[in-house]
Amino acid sequence: MNRSYPTTRLRRIRMSKFSRNLTSENFINHNDLIWPAFIINGKNQKQEVKKMPLVYRYSIDQLLIEVEHLVNLGLQAIALFPQIEDHKKDEIGSEALNPNNLVCNAVRRLKTSFPDLGIICDVALDPYTNHGHDGVIDNGQVDNDKTISILKKQAVVQAQAGCDIIAPSDMMDGRIIEIRNELEINNFKDTMIMSYSAKYASSYYGPFRDAINSKNLTEPSDKKSYQMNPANSNAALHEVKMDLSEGADMIIIKPGMPYLDIISKCKSKFKIPVFGFQVSGEYSMLMAAAKMKFLNLNDTIIESLICFKRAGADGVFSYFTPLYLEEFKKNT
Ligand code: PBG
Repeated sequence: MNRSYPTTRLRRIRMSKFSRNLTSENFINHNDLIWPAFIINGKNQKQEVKKMPLVYRYSIDQLLIEVEHLVNLGLQAIALFPQIEDHKKDEIGSEALNPNNLVCNAVRRLKTSFPDLGIICDVALDPYTNHGHDGVIDNGQVDNDKTISILKKQAVVQAQAGCDIIAPSDMMDGRIIEIRNELEINNFKDTMIMSYSAKYASSYYGPFRDAINSKNLTEPSDKKSYQMNPANSNAALHEVKMDLSEGADMIIIKPGMPYLDIISKCKSKFKIPVFGFQVSGEYSMLMAAAKMKFLNLNDTIIESLICFKRAGADGVFSYFTPLYLEEFKKNT
């Protein structure tokens, strides 16, 4: 069959909206989005994060009000990130194991009010350590095995509070199997693990560390000895393979947009649920550009999210989730 010009004109189906819609290969809707939300202690608090316009830290009472609004617009799942007061931080992140800590209290209150909402909790110590690392420091290094012995308890404490999905974001080797075993022993056999399998040592996390008031670590004490080297992609496949063999149910690639190639490779190789995390720095870049009127915000939000789907992600963690639900749900 002769498919060359002029019999084939690829522009024909792009001419009208209906044919563009009919031939669209990918879609984004509210079922694809996870809202990363910042929480703080106290009452009646809603503080804007300085480097992330329209992103707030909520006290639990305010969070419940916001979540009710978003659940009515179709919110499926929330990922909680606490800002812990400095006086509760220590060398080993002890507050992470307090069953009445901020995250656990928030989980319990959310589960009571919104039993169908999926709740995801990070497993890592950085919100709780006074040095800002994701684990325990021994001899100047983040100690892998000592850190895991705490992380697996953190996972159980969060599962006890009612968390549906445990999301280890610490990048220690072997943490998935240890966490899985600890969950099984404690009879949380249906608690899911969504592993941040491929988490890169990225500058795009800058605004997040500000949001949770965790130290913005610079050389020589940055996170490069445990988070991945941005130059590598084979290592991501290796990480994912390990995590799956240790019992991860789903995986996360992080950051998002600069690492869509990793999402694509992991999806095509392993055919498992893959999530992208559009991180704080990606959000801040787009918001800053929109503020300068360098970009049209609404159009860019949709394009930035659909890219994840095209790359093969099943869903996306995005700080744009509330804006998306408010602005676009009706149109998509
Ligand atoms: C902590 C954690 C980080 C993010 C999620 N969990 C920061 C880090 O590793 O320093 C980043 C999220 C974002 O930038 O939006 N383990």
